[in-house]
Amino acid sequence: MDLYIDTANLDEIRQASDMGVLDGVTTNPSLIAKEGVDYGKRLSEICELVPGPVSAEVIATESDKMISEGRERAKIAGNIVVKLPSTVDGLRACKALSDDGIKTNMTLCFQPLQALMVAKAGAFLVSPFIGRVDDISGDGTELIAQIRQIYDNYGLPTKILAASIRHPKHMVDCAMIGADVATVPFDVIKMFMKHPLTDVGLEKFLADYKKAFG
Ligand code: E4P
Repeated sequence: MDLYIDTANLDEIRQASDMGVLDGVTTNPSLIAKEGVDYGKRLSEICELVPGPVSAEVIATESDKMISEGRERAKIAGNIVVKLPSTVDGLRACKALSDDGIKTNMTLCFQPLQALMVAKAGAFLVSPFIGRVDDISGDGTELIAQIRQIYDNYGLPTKILAASIRHPKHMVDCAMIGADVATVPFDVIKMFMKHPLTDVGLEKFLADYKKAFG
């Protein structure tokens, strides 16, 4: 399972990268706006830090404009993946950019048929937002399971990128179901290696060593 970090903060990306298990980065307009930096410049800085896929979201909402904006974003670096909304316009843009050989990440996916359609249009990644589904009393992990089943039924190669991950249980569920990738905020990534029994056990081993060997 690939692990991406969901942030536009360079320090968080560096720290996650130092852990040695980071495969890529997702950004969105809200995350880059939060950093108060230039949109394109920040994308290029991220691409220099991480060799894996870096998702760059388009701002246009009409397919023709999405296609030209997507082509421009793709010129930033070889590892850019153009992020498009899962709308009809996004679908058209996905098909055109995929036919050009540009990788796409179809974002804001909330139901399995959006995932089926974008896979048919050649999407490289689809991003079901599981936390936001849970927020409105839906079942985000069930959405991942439905998409997994549909893609497996037809051998569709689009990768399922579980997004809007809020806590470690989301990550476990997605890994059990077989999501190909998860994109996770840094605060949640840091929880993945934490367990109180690990801390207590380590403390005891070190105390016993000190008692016996000084
Ligand atoms: C994914 O690409 C999105 O940036 C992200 O996962 C959205 O998460 P949120 O629902 O916590 O904003």
